[in-house]
Amino acid sequence: MAYRWTNDLTHDDVTPKATFLNRRQIIAGLAAGSVAGSLLPQGAAAQEGLTPNSFDDITNYCNFYEFGTRKEDPARHAHMLTTAPWSIQIDGLVDNPGAYSLADIKSKMTIEERIYRFRCVEAWSMVVPWNGFELADLLTLAGVQSGAKYVAFETVLRKDEMPGTRFPVLDWPYVEGLRLDEAMHPLTLMATGLYGQDMPNQNGAPIRLVVPWKYGFKSIKSIVRITLTDSEPPTSWNKANGREYGFYSNVNPTVDHPRWSQATERRLGGGLFAKRIATPMFNGYEAEVASLYTGMDLTKFY
Ligand code: MTE
Repeated sequence: MAYRWTNDLTHDDVTPKATFLNRRQIIAGLAAGSVAGSLLPQGAAAQEGLTPNSFDDITNYCNFYEFGTRKEDPARHAHMLTTAPWSIQIDGLVDNPGAYSLADIKSKMTIEERIYRFRCVEAWSMVVPWNGFELADLLTLAGVQSGAKYVAFETVLRKDEMPGTRFPVLDWPYVEGLRLDEAMHPLTLMATGLYGQDMPNQNGAPIRLVVPWKYGFKSIKSIVRITLTDSEPPTSWNKANGREYGFYSNVNPTVDHPRWSQATERRLGGGLFAKRIATPMFNGYEAEVASLYTGMDLTKFY
């Protein structure tokens, strides 16, 4: 690992005091791991003064097609998913392949709070206080082999617990992928909760990916398998519609979705008439991640 993510901002800088104290009390009750201070990127996102969306907003307006395609479906149906016990199969080009129990993983990882901007491809956005650990730490535990270039992820598929999977909306199971350097980047989080609580089922319990500089669909939920590969893995939305959804899917206000502009967004919770705000390059994390894409034509590798 090259470096860890560090920042000198705290909740005092970004949220009203009352919210801060409140959340601290919640976090004090966190069982697993240690909670380091709140972390924020130094770039545009930090300057914006991030106020997290409410727990209600974050948990009632979701995309989790395994439970239905409407935003309210996951909150209604995801309770059907059994999330314990849970393990993740880590395989492919790793030194230590096998089934890793989530309890065991969590006992070895540092659980931190990360307040991240989250930008959905449909041009709405929110700010989420995630709890989680760096994916890099888990990959290091598994022992990445030198031939590995990509990381493939897979969501659990249980037709009896996931009513949406009875319909061929997507080619199940939901799959996603990252280039290895993206996966190892300190911003890339394996989230196990939000607002200091265990991950709500509708948000991808018990463990999901969060890649804050990419559109939301890269943040695959309820992960049961991670495979290190030497070739670019398939991704669900790219398979469904490759013209609209590329492998990289970096937030980029200058590259429009074929059917709408990506230049602006509406922050969730602002009501129907919420003002549109400009979407920053790489969702505000340009200073941190732009170097991963030096020399690449981002209109081609969208
Ligand atoms: N993961 C799975 N397994 N299935 C999905 O349908 N939807 C994606 C992503 N991860 C999805 C998924 C999309 S389109 C978005 S925008 C985010 O989850 C939404 O995360 P949230 O509901 O926690 O806001």
